[in-house]
Amino acid sequence: MSFHPLMDYGRAHHKSSRAMADEGPAFAYTPEHLATLEDICSRYPPEQRKSAILAALYLAQRQQGYVTRNAMKAVAEAIRCTTAEVEDVVSFYTMFYQRPVGRHVLQVCRTLSCALNGAERVTDELQKVLGIAPGETTADGQFSLFEVECLGACDRAPVVGVNDHWHECQRPEDAKALVEGLRTKGAAVLTGCHLHKETV
Ligand code: FES
Repeated sequence: MSFHPLMDYGRAHHKSSRAMADEGPAFAYTPEHLATLEDICSRYPPEQRKSAILAALYLAQRQQGYVTRNAMKAVAEAIRCTTAEVEDVVSFYTMFYQRPVGRHVLQVCRTLSCALNGAERVTDELQKVLGIAPGETTADGQFSLFEVECLGACDRAPVVGVNDHWHECQRPEDAKALVEGLRTKGAAVLTGCHLHKETV
Protein backbone atom coordinates (compact mmCIF):
# COMPACT_ATOMS: atom_id res chain seq x y z
CA MET A 1 0.00 0.00 0.00
CA SER A 2 1.26 3.49 -0.79
CA PHE A 3 0.56 6.54 1.33
CA HIS A 4 -0.09 10.10 0.39
CA PRO A 5 -0.06 12.89 3.00
CA LEU A 6 -3.29 14.45 1.73
CA MET A 7 -5.33 11.27 1.52
CA ASP A 8 -7.82 10.48 4.27
CA TYR A 9 -7.10 6.81 4.75
CA GLY A 10 -9.93 6.43 7.18
CA ARG A 11 -12.45 7.46 4.54
CA ALA A 12 -14.63 4.71 3.16
CA HIS A 13 -11.82 2.27 2.52
CA HIS A 14 -13.12 -0.66 0.54
CA LYS A 15 -12.11 -3.22 3.15
CA SER A 16 -13.97 -1.51 5.95
CA SER A 17 -17.00 -0.93 3.73
CA ARG A 18 -17.28 -4.52 2.54
CA ALA A 19 -19.29 -6.91 4.65
CA MET A 20 -18.13 -10.49 5.03
CA ALA A 21 -19.53 -12.89 2.49
CA ASP A 22 -22.97 -14.38 2.99
CA GLU A 23 -23.33 -18.14 3.21
CA GLY A 24 -25.53 -17.83 0.14
CA PRO A 25 -27.48 -20.57 -1.60
CA ALA A 26 -25.92 -23.95 -2.38
CA PHE A 27 -23.31 -23.48 -5.11
CA ALA A 28 -22.12 -25.84 -7.84
CA TYR A 29 -20.33 -24.88 -11.04
CA THR A 30 -22.37 -25.23 -14.22
CA PRO A 31 -21.11 -28.06 -16.45
CA GLU A 32 -19.70 -25.43 -18.83
CA HIS A 33 -17.77 -23.63 -16.09
CA LEU A 34 -16.62 -26.93 -14.61
CA ALA A 35 -15.24 -27.99 -18.00
CA THR A 36 -13.44 -24.65 -18.33
CA LEU A 37 -11.99 -25.00 -14.84
CA GLU A 38 -10.83 -28.56 -15.51
CA ASP A 39 -9.14 -27.38 -18.70
CA ILE A 40 -7.30 -24.65 -16.77
CA CYS A 41 -6.35 -27.05 -13.95
CA SER A 42 -4.92 -29.48 -16.51
CA ARG A 43 -2.18 -26.90 -17.24
CA TYR A 44 -0.74 -27.42 -13.77
CA PRO A 45 0.74 -30.51 -12.11
CA PRO A 46 -2.06 -32.47 -10.36
CA GLU A 47 -0.69 -31.57 -6.92
CA GLN A 48 -0.77 -27.88 -7.87
CA ARG A 49 -4.43 -27.51 -8.80
CA LYS A 50 -4.76 -24.61 -6.43
CA SER A 51 -2.62 -22.57 -8.82
CA ALA A 52 -5.91 -22.11 -10.69
CA ILE A 53 -7.48 -20.30 -7.74
CA LEU A 54 -7.98 -16.95 -9.49
CA ALA A 55 -9.58 -18.58 -12.53
CA ALA A 56 -11.77 -20.73 -10.28
CA LEU A 57 -12.95 -17.64 -8.41
CA TYR A 58 -13.59 -15.66 -11.60
CA LEU A 59 -15.76 -18.49 -12.91
CA ALA A 60 -17.70 -18.65 -9.64
CA GLN A 61 -18.21 -14.89 -9.67
CA ARG A 62 -19.24 -14.90 -13.32
CA GLN A 63 -21.82 -17.53 -12.49
CA GLN A 64 -23.22 -15.96 -9.33
CA GLY A 65 -22.35 -12.27 -9.61
CA TYR A 66 -20.39 -12.32 -6.36
CA VAL A 67 -18.57 -14.88 -4.23
CA THR A 68 -20.55 -16.40 -1.38
CA ARG A 69 -19.11 -18.59 1.33
CA ASN A 70 -20.74 -21.60 -0.28
CA ALA A 71 -19.03 -20.67 -3.55
CA MET A 72 -15.70 -20.42 -1.70
CA LYS A 73 -16.26 -23.94 -0.36
CA ALA A 74 -16.99 -25.21 -3.88
CA VAL A 75 -13.86 -23.48 -5.20
CA ALA A 76 -11.76 -25.03 -2.41
CA GLU A 77 -13.14 -28.47 -3.20
CA ALA A 78 -12.59 -28.05 -6.95
CA ILE A 79 -8.95 -26.99 -6.67
CA ARG A 80 -8.16 -29.03 -3.53
CA CYS A 81 -7.22 -26.41 -0.99
CA THR A 82 -8.82 -25.11 2.18
CA THR A 83 -11.74 -22.69 2.31
CA ALA A 84 -9.55 -20.40 4.42
CA GLU A 85 -7.03 -20.17 1.56
CA VAL A 86 -9.82 -19.23 -0.83
CA GLU A 87 -11.16 -16.65 1.61
CA ASP A 88 -7.67 -15.14 1.92
CA VAL A 89 -7.54 -14.59 -1.84
CA VAL A 90 -11.09 -13.24 -2.04
CA SER A 91 -10.47 -10.77 0.76
CA PHE A 92 -7.15 -9.63 -0.73
CA TYR A 93 -8.17 -8.86 -4.31
CA THR A 94 -10.65 -6.05 -4.84
CA MET A 95 -11.96 -7.58 -8.05
CA PHE A 96 -13.78 -10.25 -6.06
CA TYR A 97 -17.06 -9.12 -4.52
CA GLN A 98 -18.42 -10.67 -1.34
CA ARG A 99 -21.91 -9.29 -1.77
CA PRO A 100 -24.09 -8.33 -4.73
CA VAL A 101 -22.81 -5.38 -6.78
CA GLY A 102 -24.25 -3.21 -9.51
CA ARG A 103 -24.12 -3.87 -13.24
CA HIS A 104 -21.21 -1.41 -13.52
CA VAL A 105 -18.62 -1.63 -10.75
CA LEU A 106 -16.56 1.57 -10.59
CA GLN A 107 -13.27 1.22 -8.72
CA VAL A 108 -11.37 4.47 -8.31
CA CYS A 109 -7.66 3.90 -7.76
CA ARG A 110 -6.42 5.94 -4.81
CA THR A 111 -2.76 4.89 -4.81
CA LEU A 112 0.05 7.42 -5.25
CA SER A 113 0.00 8.29 -8.98
CA CYS A 114 -3.77 8.52 -9.02
CA ALA A 115 -3.92 10.33 -5.66
CA LEU A 116 -1.46 12.97 -6.89
CA ASN A 117 -3.53 13.44 -10.03
CA GLY A 118 -6.84 14.03 -8.29
CA ALA A 119 -8.35 10.61 -7.64
CA GLU A 120 -10.03 11.84 -4.48
CA ARG A 121 -11.87 14.53 -6.46
CA VAL A 122 -12.87 11.92 -9.03
CA THR A 123 -14.38 9.84 -6.22
CA ASP A 124 -16.14 12.91 -4.82
CA GLU A 125 -17.70 13.72 -8.20
CA LEU A 126 -18.77 10.13 -8.80
CA GLN A 127 -20.38 10.13 -5.36
CA LYS A 128 -22.34 13.26 -6.26
CA VAL A 129 -23.42 11.97 -9.66
CA LEU A 130 -24.41 8.54 -8.36
CA GLY A 131 -25.76 9.65 -4.98
CA ILE A 132 -23.87 6.90 -3.16
CA ALA A 133 -20.73 6.62 -1.04
CA PRO A 134 -17.82 4.26 -1.72
CA GLY A 135 -18.88 0.73 -0.86
CA GLU A 136 -22.49 1.33 -1.90
CA THR A 137 -24.69 0.40 -4.87
CA THR A 138 -27.31 2.63 -6.48
CA ALA A 139 -30.94 1.75 -5.79
CA ASP A 140 -31.48 0.78 -9.44
CA GLY A 141 -28.65 -1.75 -9.21
CA GLN A 142 -26.75 -0.10 -12.06
CA PHE A 143 -23.61 1.17 -10.29
CA SER A 144 -21.39 0.25 -7.35
CA LEU A 145 -18.56 2.52 -6.25
CA PHE A 146 -15.33 1.51 -4.52
CA GLU A 147 -11.95 3.00 -3.76
CA VAL A 148 -9.13 0.54 -4.46
CA GLU A 149 -5.37 0.37 -4.61
CA CYS A 150 -3.18 0.45 -7.75
CA LEU A 151 -4.85 -0.88 -10.88
CA GLY A 152 -1.58 -1.11 -12.81
CA ALA A 153 -2.07 1.77 -15.24
CA CYS A 154 -0.26 4.41 -13.17
CA ASP A 155 1.00 6.37 -16.21
CA ARG A 156 -2.65 7.09 -17.11
CA ALA A 157 -3.73 8.36 -13.69
CA PRO A 158 -6.31 8.83 -12.37
CA VAL A 159 -7.67 5.44 -13.32
CA VAL A 160 -11.16 4.05 -12.72
CA GLY A 161 -11.71 0.33 -13.07
CA VAL A 162 -15.04 -0.51 -14.67
CA ASN A 163 -15.91 -4.18 -14.37
CA ASP A 164 -13.10 -6.06 -16.20
CA HIS A 165 -11.75 -2.94 -17.94
CA TRP A 166 -10.40 0.42 -16.91
CA HIS A 167 -10.94 4.05 -17.80
CA GLU A 168 -7.86 6.25 -17.87
CA CYS A 169 -6.98 9.92 -17.35
CA GLN A 170 -10.34 10.45 -15.67
CA ARG A 171 -10.98 14.06 -14.64
CA PRO A 172 -13.49 14.99 -11.92
CA GLU A 173 -15.53 16.99 -14.44
CA ASP A 174 -15.87 13.87 -16.60
CA ALA A 175 -17.72 11.90 -13.94
CA LYS A 176 -21.20 12.68 -15.22
CA ALA A 177 -20.28 11.83 -18.81
CA LEU A 178 -18.74 8.54 -17.71
CA VAL A 179 -21.84 7.52 -15.78
CA GLU A 180 -24.23 8.58 -18.55
CA GLY A 181 -22.03 6.93 -21.17
CA LEU A 182 -22.03 3.66 -19.28
CA ARG A 183 -25.81 3.84 -18.96
CA THR A 184 -26.35 4.38 -22.68
CA LYS A 185 -23.35 2.85 -24.44
CA GLY A 186 -21.80 0.48 -21.93
CA ALA A 187 -18.08 -0.37 -22.22
CA ALA A 188 -17.84 1.49 -25.56
CA VAL A 189 -17.15 4.70 -23.61
CA LEU A 190 -14.09 3.35 -21.81
CA THR A 191 -10.61 4.57 -22.71
CA GLY A 192 -8.30 1.86 -21.36
CA CYS A 193 -5.26 1.50 -23.63
CA HIS A 194 -5.81 -2.27 -23.57
CA LEU A 195 -9.02 -1.53 -25.50
CA HIS A 196 -6.89 -0.22 -28.40
CA LYS A 197 -8.39 3.26 -28.23
CA GLU A 198 -5.23 5.22 -27.53
CA THR A 199 -5.34 8.74 -28.85
CA VAL A 200 -1.93 9.97 -27.64
S1 FES B 1 -1.52 4.35 -8.88
FE1 FES B 1 -3.46 4.33 -9.85
S2 FES B 1 -3.20 2.82 -11.38
FE2 FES B 1 -1.34 2.73 -10.27
